[in-house]
Amino acid sequence: MHFSAYTLLALAALQSASATLQVVPGATWTASNGAHLQAHGGGIIEVGGTYYLVGEDKTNGSAFQNVNCYSSTDLVQWHYEGALLSVTTSGDLGPSRVIERPKVIYNDKTRKYVLWMHVDSSSYGEAKVGVATGDTVCGRYTYQGSFQPLDHQSRDTSLFKDDDGAAYLLSEDRANGLRIMRLTDDYLAVANSTYLWPDHIEAPAVVKVQGRYYMFGSHLTGWDANDNVVSSSTSLSSGWTPWATFADVGSKTYTSQTNYILQYGDTVVYLGDRWVSTNLKASTYVWLPLNISGTSVSMTNHAAWVPPSGREAQQTVYTSSTAVLASGARNVDCSACSGSKAAGYIGGPSHGTATFTFDFTAAAGTANDLTTLVVRYGVSETSGRLGTVRVNDGAPIQVAFLRGSSSGNIGQSVLTVRLNSGTNKLEFGGVGDAYGPDIDTIQVPSN
Ligand SMILES: *[C@@H]1O[C@H](CO)[C@@H](O)[C@H](O)[C@H]1NC(C)=O
Ligand SMILES: *[C@@H]1O[C@H](CO)[C@@H](O)[C@H](O)[C@H]1NC(C)=O
Ligand SMILES: *[C@@H]1O[C@H](CO)[C@@H](O)[C@H](O)[C@H]1NC(C)=O
Repeated sequence: MHFSAYTLLALAALQSASATLQVVPGATWTASNGAHLQAHGGGIIEVGGTYYLVGEDKTNGSAFQNVNCYSSTDLVQWHYEGALLSVTTSGDLGPSRVIERPKVIYNDKTRKYVLWMHVDSSSYGEAKVGVATGDTVCGRYTYQGSFQPLDHQSRDTSLFKDDDGAAYLLSEDRANGLRIMRLTDDYLAVANSTYLWPDHIEAPAVVKVQGRYYMFGSHLTGWDANDNVVSSSTSLSSGWTPWATFADVGSKTYTSQTNYILQYGDTVVYLGDRWVSTNLKASTYVWLPLNISGTSVSMTNHAAWVPPSGREAQQTVYTSSTAVLASGARNVDCSACSGSKAAGYIGGPSHGTATFTFDFTAAAGTANDLTTLVVRYGVSETSGRLGTVRVNDGAPIQVAFLRGSSSGNIGQSVLTVRLNSGTNKLEFGGVGDAYGPDIDTIQVPSN
């Protein structure tokens, strides 16, 4: 077989491009629109190698605003595509309504994308499902209406599409337990009941791996996290194993609640929400690789990991004491920061900057490398802050910084940039005359 020089270069670029992209659970994830990803309680549908993340927009709190859609080819960089559904003046999608856990599957026969979601009043008294359809995965959807599936209460929901094209609604029925229900062939209604667990489990998600079905879910503790559980079977209608924990016991699933389970290459990825009930828009995403083998399911926590391999990322840390501060930026006290100092007064009316200079070794054969960096910062306002970063004197990129949730309001934000092999310069600034975050460290992957 003959490879041209061009093909070899392209292959090398592809491998190195993925080698330094990282998933950082619990961090601020800035999408292409310059804001933290608003796709809570969501799910992913893959179409032609692109992953579409569909979830709840919590920008203005718990009431329904939008069902948002983002796309990615690497699970790290997310492009904001738009809203599938938005708030209307009245009805199911009107003001002060609850629309949660939207999930999309594709119907091969009708060639429609079908969206199911939990539809409720603000007191959660209606307990219904709603259905909408779309002609394209991330276009506008047409709302079809709501009902109680087979006349049962339904709050947390999800969908599962099997290899044979049969699709199922997963539904938490407060009176009876957790249900699997078969959808009609057009996926627009519920046909019949497949299985009922008498246990109170919500946040359901099913994945099929090597002929075995795995149902993940959480206990019922509201917005607070608990130790989520899994049950598995080779049949959807019988033989389910007893519920068992899969993350470290007592970790409350690393402070998260199941929202979806994704097959990504050979890796099965747990997608969870880390809800911030007092500031829902600042809720983050805890995505981690699962270790599944027969009836055994486990999940280890990682500060950052590299898809698709799932291996833990190694980082070199540069503290703010190595940064050059200019135009009014200066050191501020920060007890939870390294050396108890952070780079403060970044941005603002005098447009203060903090510039980090560091070495980076790109993978062999590549001139520059697409790389995820982690910024550790402090922001105390509920609204969070925005900042900019310029890489090697390039154009400023807007980055979001949610209010930090750990002690001292410390948080982490990720950015994906192209670095040179050799010396690189990263300059942090503000947006307009507003102040950016107080910066503690940047973390650069060490190859
Ligand atoms: C949030 O509320 C503001 C003020 O009412 C409004 O302008 C904005 O469009 C809302 N955002 C979303 C995502 O609903
Ligand atoms: C359940 O509904 C599906 C889809 O309509 C149908 O194929 C199947 O035969 C039904 N099963 C039972 C037990 O009625
Ligand atoms: C995955 O789980 C199996 C037990 O089923 C264990 O032997 C193995 O070490 C685990 N692998 C990783 C990478 O944690």
